Amino acid sequence: MTTAAPAISMTDRAAYETAIDQAIAASAAYYGDGDTTLDDAAYDALARAIAAYEREHPEHTRADSPTGKVGGGAAPVGDVAHTVPMLSLDNVFDAEGLQKWGASLARRIDGPVTGGYAVEPKLDGAAIAARYRDGRLVQLVGRGDGVHGEDVSHAIGTIVGLPVQLPEPVTVEIRGEALLTAAQFVKANEIRVAHKAKMFSNPRNGTAGTLRAKDRPYVIETTFFAYGAVGLDDVDFLAGETHEAVMAQVAALGVQTTGSTEVGLKVCTTLAEVQARVEEIQTLRPELPYGIDGVVIKTNGFAEQKAAGFATRHPHWAIAYKLAAVEAQTQLLAVEWNVGRTGIIAPRAVLKPVEVDGSVVTYATLHNPAFIRDSGLKINDTVKVWKAGDIIPRIESPVTGLRTGAETDIVFPECCPKCDGEIDKSGERWECAGGVNGSCGLLPSLKYAVGRDQLDIDGLGVTYLETLVETGQVNDLGDLFGLSRAQLAEATGSEKRADSLLAEFDKARQQPLNRVFCALGIVRTGRTLSREIARHFGTMDKIRAASPEALAEVNKLPGANAPKIAAHIAAMGPVIDKLVAAGLNMDEPTTDSGSTASSKPLAGEVVVVTGGMHGPLAGRNRNQMNELIEKAGGTTSGSISKKTTLLVAGEGAGSKLAKAEQLGTKVLSEQQFADLVADHLS
Ligand code: IVH
Repeated sequence: MTTAAPAISMTDRAAYETAIDQAIAASAAYYGDGDTTLDDAAYDALARAIAAYEREHPEHTRADSPTGKVGGGAAPVGDVAHTVPMLSLDNVFDAEGLQKWGASLARRIDGPVTGGYAVEPKLDGAAIAARYRDGRLVQLVGRGDGVHGEDVSHAIGTIVGLPVQLPEPVTVEIRGEALLTAAQFVKANEIRVAHKAKMFSNPRNGTAGTLRAKDRPYVIETTFFAYGAVGLDDVDFLAGETHEAVMAQVAALGVQTTGSTEVGLKVCTTLAEVQARVEEIQTLRPELPYGIDGVVIKTNGFAEQKAAGFATRHPHWAIAYKLAAVEAQTQLLAVEWNVGRTGIIAPRAVLKPVEVDGSVVTYATLHNPAFIRDSGLKINDTVKVWKAGDIIPRIESPVTGLRTGAETDIVFPECCPKCDGEIDKSGERWECAGGVNGSCGLLPSLKYAVGRDQLDIDGLGVTYLETLVETGQVNDLGDLFGLSRAQLAEATGSEKRADSLLAEFDKARQQPLNRVFCALGIVRTGRTLSREIARHFGTMDKIRAASPEALAEVNKLPGANAPKIAAHIAAMGPVIDKLVAAGLNMDEPTTDSGSTASSKPLAGEVVVVTGGMHGPLAGRNRNQMNELIEKAGGTTSGSISKKTTLLVAGEGAGSKLAKAEQLGTKVLSEQQFADLVADHLS
């Protein structure tokens, strides 16, 4: 499992000097705007070649060499003195490197490690030290150059997992990584776009920028996981003898630790076990809700840590085992402009295929025209492509230093690429002026509307829909329900099919409001929000009458999206009228089986589902499971957190089950869950 770029061998001093300049520039850019010419693996290879040359020719070593410097010497420095230096970690890249580290550690402590190795994720964010005095979070300090850090206390209160007040009046400094989870990253960029600010190119840059920014007119939430703690003001709070014990002490204060990540903290006895654990973590990585760039291995016992000691900038008792790069360089071959189901014209990058973290990436989102303009991208540019956890691949930046002159401007469409109609360029995202109600986007929106999780009209495939649209018989969703048996028989070539479709339409007329609303394909809403909106208002009339302010009250609905949603609902008025006239149900059922909200079996429960459903729940997809949970009075969530009260674990349950067990969350099998909600299973 090696990630390193090919080894660079450096024989002459001129090459060494050039390499130093390159490394300094790259590391300065990494901490600045992120526009570096080197990806992580290439930087690591260069830094190793520099260090090797310096070992051979110590007399040539430049004072500004990045070797042994925290952040390559370019991390932003502040004026708050660290209580104890905040160090870097040395890296290994494969099993052989791990063995070598183990052997040198054993030499240092005069024998094999007996207290075990703590193995935890290397989170890819920004290091911070959180100072608590008498239980109150009073100061946040960035890593800086390891000796002095920048004061980022303005972020207090915006970091999930780092409470402002602890349950006990302790004085301690907790250290860890602040990061943006995938969901926080998406939300942060939505907020940035709404405020006409440049989008973050990746969560790591977003975290660093967010921690540095002082006077933003908006708040971006980040997440914290502790990986260490040190004493503060000579107060002796930390009592444990091992890393694991101290982390447990920190977790008991209500602070999130690496132990509460999906990966967790595991103590291994041997290096062989450590290697196996690293490989397990590698396979977990694509599903994690945030990026990790490696695994950190620490000797668990403090006595052995003390015996191993420190180099200038890193401890000998810990090592970072770097995982395959999630970043790669490739070439931008073309830009495609695709029209989505709601008429949004989305640019997509066509890339020279490149492998990133075990899969081949050929396309990456370019978000919107503003993103292209802000990034200065050109066709044929070398681009940095980035992927982490469950975030879809994205272009981080063009590597302008590698331009050859063969680059050409990206051409923006003059008219809708699908219908040749006008483009509405008034918003951040361009839309076909025909939009959802026009011909553009009609076919995909109809396909969506009849889908299994919306109106669930079986047998109305895209070929039949195409015929109905092309012949002008269907111009919107409402028209579908007005089709005669003869029209359906002609479009599908069979009277039998026409009859079964008519029966399907009748079934669809009985669907609850949330599915009818979802079928409308209102912008910025999906299945979950449609259920929330339907439950909140109860009837279509009330939804139509809702102001943006009233919509913003709906659970899980981001206030910034409410005006667009309200405008779209209003624009869909004529379609809704047709659906009402066609006899579709416009009410959301409020009670089931005569039960009231509080008597429902899942009242007050926050439920997560994982794995495949079998037995009495067989065939239910996530949306249908979520519907069932809500019908039974529960709230649904996609990921396990402290708020989760129940996990339904189906076949193949993996990291979510592990996390639930770690947090002590109640876990039910499919059968146990089915028994619990039996009254709502029909
Ligand atoms: S321990 C003395 N543990 O990696 C040991 N660091 O290159 C100090 N990091 O600055 C670090 N996850 O920002 C440690 N589980 C983890 C970590 C971790 C991420 C970062 C941290 C540090 C950098 C070292």
